[in-house]
Amino acid sequence: MKILVTGGLGYIGSHTCVELLKEGYEVVVIDNLSNAKEEVKDKIKEITGKNIKFYLGDMIDENLLDKIFTEEKIDAVIDFAAYKAVGESVQKPVEYYTNNISTVLVLLKEMKKHNVKKLVFSSSATVYGNPEHVPIKETDKTGGTTNPYGTSKLFVEQILKDLYKSDNAWDIAILRYFNPIGAHQSGLIGEEPNGIPANLMPYIAKVASKELECLSVFGNDYPTKDGTGVRDYIHVVDLAKGHIKALEKLEREQAGLYIYNLGTGIGYSVLDIINAFEKVNQVKVNYKIAERRPGDIAECYSDPTKAKQELGWEAKLTIEDMCKDAYNFILKNKNN
Ligand code: UD1
Repeated sequence: MKILVTGGLGYIGSHTCVELLKEGYEVVVIDNLSNAKEEVKDKIKEITGKNIKFYLGDMIDENLLDKIFTEEKIDAVIDFAAYKAVGESVQKPVEYYTNNISTVLVLLKEMKKHNVKKLVFSSSATVYGNPEHVPIKETDKTGGTTNPYGTSKLFVEQILKDLYKSDNAWDIAILRYFNPIGAHQSGLIGEEPNGIPANLMPYIAKVASKELECLSVFGNDYPTKDGTGVRDYIHVVDLAKGHIKALEKLEREQAGLYIYNLGTGIGYSVLDIINAFEKVNQVKVNYKIAERRPGDIAECYSDPTKAKQELGWEAKLTIEDMCKDAYNFILKNKNN
C-alpha cells in the first residue's frame, strides 16, 4: 500500500513514516518545511534503510496535490500538516484557520477527484476543551476550545463528519492525541520546536542540557494530587504505531468514520515529570513555581479502552522511556 503522509517530516509525521516503512508500506511525503527540516528525510532513511518519496510544497497548492495523486497512485492519506502552537494561534487566527482548515479542504477535494477515500486525521485532545471529568472517553462532550488551534481541529472533525454523512464510501479515522513527548530511540529524530519551547518536555530537556536556565511550573494550586497540572503523556513512537493500527482498521473494514483517543490513560503531574526526568537521566532540572498559564486546565487524561478494543493498540512505553529518549535527542542535536 502506498500512503501519502502530509507534514511527514514534522515531529509526529516523521516517527509515523518510520513505523510505516518498518511495516512495509510505501511512503510519499508532502511537507512545506514550515516547521521541519529536509534532513529528516535522510534520518528516516538511516533508521529504516528505506527511502520515502518527498515533495516539497504546500498543501494549499491544488496543482501539486493533483500531480501527486496522478503520479503516485496513493491508497490512503495520513494528514499531519498543520500549525500547532497554541499561543501563536491566538495571535494569528487567520493564518491558523487558513493553514489548518483550507489545506484539508483542498486535500479532500483532490482525494475525492482521484477516488482515494481512506484518511487518518491528526486531531487533539484539545477538542474536549475543559473536560467535565477524567478519564475522557471519545463520546464525551467536545467544544469550548480556548484557542484557534483547538478550534481548527474541532472544525475539521466536523467537516469530516459532514463529508462521511454525504458519502459513506469514505473511511476516516480521527485520532485525538493527548500529550506526545519523547523521541525515536536512535536520537536521530525528535521534537525541534522553533525558538523557546512552549511545551513542557522540550523545555525540561533544554533546562537539563543548560540551554535554558530554569523551568517555570505554571501553578501549584490546581485541585490535583500535588497542585500542578496533570496530563496524559504518550511516547511519540507509541503514538506513531497507533496510526498503523488505524490504517489497518481502514483496510479491514467496509467503510466508516471512527474516532479514537490515543493516550496511555495515566495522568502525570508536572512535578512527576520533573522527578522522572531527573531520576532516569541523572540530571538536575532547575524549576520555580510560577503563576498559572492562562487557558490551562487542571487535569486531562484519556480513557484509551476504545483504541485497545477496536484497534488492538495500546501504549507500551513508560514515562521513563519518554524522559530518556527526549533527553537523548536534545543531547545528540544540541549544536544543530
Ligand atoms: C498543549 C495543547 C495541546 C497540544 C499540546 C502539544 C491546549 C489546551 N493544549 O497541551 O492541544 O496538543 O500542547 O503537546 O490547547 N507547563 C509548565 N511549564 C512550562 C510548560 C508547561 O508548568 O514551561 C505545564 C502546563 O501548565 C501543563 C503541562 O505542563 O500543566 C503540559 O503543558 P504543555 O506541554 O504545554 O501541554 P498542554 O498545555 O497540555
